[in-house]
Amino acid sequence: MLAKVKSRTILGIDSYPVEVEVDISNGLPAFELVGFAHSTVKESRERVRAAIKNSGFEFPNRRITVNLAPADVKKEAPLFDLPIALGILAATQQMERNLLDNLIVIGELSLDGRVKPVKGVLPIALGTLEDSGVRLLVPRDNSQEAVLIKKVEVLAAGTLQEAAGLLKENGEALRVSCQELSEEQGKTEEMVFDYEEVKGQEHAKRALEIAAAGGHNLIMVGPPGSGKTMLARGFPSILPEMTFEESLEVTRIYSISGLLKDNLLIRKRPFRSPHHTISNAALIGGGRLPRPGEVSLAHHGVLFLDELTEFRREALELLRQPLEEGEVTISRMNATLTYPARITFISSMNPCPCGFYNDPHRECSCSYLELRRYQKKLSGPLMDRIDLHIQVSRPSYQELTGTSPVESSIDIRVRVTRAREIQNKRFESNGIYYNSQMTAVHLKKYCVLDSLSQKILKKAFHSFKLSGRAFHRLVKVSRTIADLEGSEKIQPEHVGEALQYRPLDKIVF
Ligand SMILES: Nc1ncnc2c1ncn2[C@@H]1O[C@H](COP(=O)(O)OP(=O)(O)O)[C@@H](O)[C@H]1O
Ligand SMILES: [Mg+2]
Repeated sequence: MLAKVKSRTILGIDSYPVEVEVDISNGLPAFELVGFAHSTVKESRERVRAAIKNSGFEFPNRRITVNLAPADVKKEAPLFDLPIALGILAATQQMERNLLDNLIVIGELSLDGRVKPVKGVLPIALGTLEDSGVRLLVPRDNSQEAVLIKKVEVLAAGTLQEAAGLLKENGEALRVSCQELSEEQGKTEEMVFDYEEVKGQEHAKRALEIAAAGGHNLIMVGPPGSGKTMLARGFPSILPEMTFEESLEVTRIYSISGLLKDNLLIRKRPFRSPHHTISNAALIGGGRLPRPGEVSLAHHGVLFLDELTEFRREALELLRQPLEEGEVTISRMNATLTYPARITFISSMNPCPCGFYNDPHRECSCSYLELRRYQKKLSGPLMDRIDLHIQVSRPSYQELTGTSPVESSIDIRVRVTRAREIQNKRFESNGIYYNSQMTAVHLKKYCVLDSLSQKILKKAFHSFKLSGRAFHRLVKVSRTIADLEGSEKIQPEHVGEALQYRPLDKIVF
C-alpha cells in the first residue's frame, strides 16, 4: 500500500515542496528512510514508531519504506515526523487516504504522540501560497505564526490522534481562525533610553538622525567616557517604524531561527549588539546546521559593534559582503544559501590604545608604531563602507551640568519618520525601502545634482581621494539630508553637510 503526503522544507529563508511517500509491503519488518535526509531527520523513525503506538494506533509489523522527494534537496529539520506518521496511518488504512489530499503537513512528534512546534513555519506558510486550494496543517503551538499569512487556510493539531481523527469532516475542528492583527499588537513601545539624557554631542546626534532616516552606516570615534555607547544604545528610540513588508521579512528570519516570541509579527526594528568574542558563524551565519547569523538577525535594523577594534580582524572582514550587498551567501556542500542582511551598521572605537589621540585636553601616550598597529586593525575596505564617520569629544562640564532643554528622542523620531515616508513613497515600485539601498540605477534617477553640487563633489573627490564606492555613498547621504529637510532636489548645502561626516578619510586613515 502506498500513501503520499505533501510537506515542505526550509532552505535559506525560503521553503520548498517535499513529497513524503510511504510504502508498506510484505517482508521482514523494517523501517527505511531514504531521500537525502540529515541525521536529525533519520531520527524521525524512532519518534514516529513510538508516537503511533502511544496514540492508540497500530504500528505495522511489515516493511516500511519512506521516501522524501525530491532526493537532491537536503532535508535538515525534524519537520517530517507528522507527515510520515499520517502517511503510515493512511497506508495501513487506519485513516482515510483522501483526507490527505490538498493538505501540506509539518510537525515534530514527541514519543507520547504530542505534536511539537517547529522552526520556519512563516516561510512554509508563504510557500503554501504557490499551490492554490491547499491547506496547511501545523503544530498547535505554531498556529498563530501560520495565520500571519492571511490567505492560507490553516489547520492545527496538538496530538497525532487529533490530527488523524479530526481531519474528517473537512478538518473543521482543527481550523484556526485568522486573528486580525490590531495596530497595537507587537508594538512593544517601551522606550529603552532617550536622547534627552545625552548632554551635548549635537554633532553626533545629528549624524545618528541621518543614519536612522536613510539606513546609513556610522562609526563613532572618541575617548573613553565620551558617551559613544550611550549614543548607540539610544539609537532604537529614533528609528522609524517598520512597514508591513519589512516586518514580514524580519519575522521570517526569526521564524527559521526559532526565535519568534509569542508567534507574533515583529514590529520593532531589531537591534543586535554581539560581544567581540563572537564566532564567525554566529556573526555571519552558517555552521553545521546552517542558521542566520547576527547580521541577518539585524536585517532592516541595527548591528552595533561596540569597541570595534576588539573584534578579530577576520570577523570584521566577513562583514564586507553583507555591508555591500545586503545579504550573506553561505556555500554548503550541496547548496548555496542566501540570508538577507540589510543592516544599519553602527560601531564605536577609541582613537588609539590609550584613548586620547587628538584630544585637546589630554596628551596621547601612544607611540607612532602603536598607533599604526591599532589603526591597521580596521581595513580600508571596511571603512570605505561606512558612510558617516564622526568624532565624539568629551562633553564639557557646562554641558553635563547645564539645565538648558535637550531635544527628546520623540522629536527626532518625528523628523526621521517623515523623511522615511518620503523614501518609502519614492521607492514604491522599486522593491527597496530607503536611500542606503539605492543601486546605480536609482542614483541616476533620484539623485540629480545641480552644477554647484557637482563642483563641490568633484573637489572633495580629489582632495579626500574618495573611492567610487565612497563617492556613491556620499551622494546617498546627501539624498537623505535633503529628505530630512523635505527638499525634493539635492542642494549644495546638503552635499556640504554629507562631506562633513567623512573626516576619517583624511585624518586617521
Ligand atoms: N554626553 C553625555 N551626557 C550625559 N552623560 C554622559 C555623556 N557622556 C558620558 N556620560 C556618562 O558616562 C557614562 C559612560 O559613557 P559611555 O557611553 O559608556 O562612554 P564610552 O562608550 O564613550 O566610553 C554614561 O553612562 C553616562 O553616565
Ligand atoms: Mg563604550
